[in-house]
Amino acid sequence: MARVLGKSLQGMLESVAKAGEPRNLERDRAHRALKRCGEEVDAGRLARAVQRALGYVPPRALPLLAERAGLTAESLLTRLEALEEIRLEPECQQRIEICSGRTCARRGGAKLIRLARGTLGVNMFETTPGQQIRLEPFRCFGQCARAPNIRMNGVIQGAMTEKRFGLLLGLLGRGKR
Ligand code: FES
Repeated sequence: MARVLGKSLQGMLESVAKAGEPRNLERDRAHRALKRCGEEVDAGRLARAVQRALGYVPPRALPLLAERAGLTAESLLTRLEALEEIRLEPECQQRIEICSGRTCARRGGAKLIRLARGTLGVNMFETTPGQQIRLEPFRCFGQCARAPNIRMNGVIQGAMTEKRFGLLLGLLGRGKR
């Protein structure tokens, strides 16, 4: 499968530096994937395990990977970039992130997640067939006053209703045919 490497090495390292953010489901899942690898320390095998769990190796997983492999962030990235099968960006045309933070979840975010999973037929961290639409949870965009929030292709859309989200999903679905 072709690699998708839009970000520069510097950009990736900046993302790594931001990884000290609050609890994050993506990082939790990467952590569990690494735990299942037992005593493995080979960066490539560890990265493949993370990629199986998340569809790619996200910036948030890089500090965990570097620590496990005993490498600096730079050497880890150099190692991963040399591996043809490793993706450092998700392979998708559209990326939908739904806030799963407490305020958004309470104000309807949990329903938005169910709606997206049902409509798209994929679970979180998965992409619809043909790499069209990827669904991800995100714990708090820092825009709680406008909850529930979603982020589509990097743009946050607040006060999302099921009706509006359903229409957006329908439009995306039509666009992929
Ligand atoms: S809880 Fe969703 S933006 Fe903060």
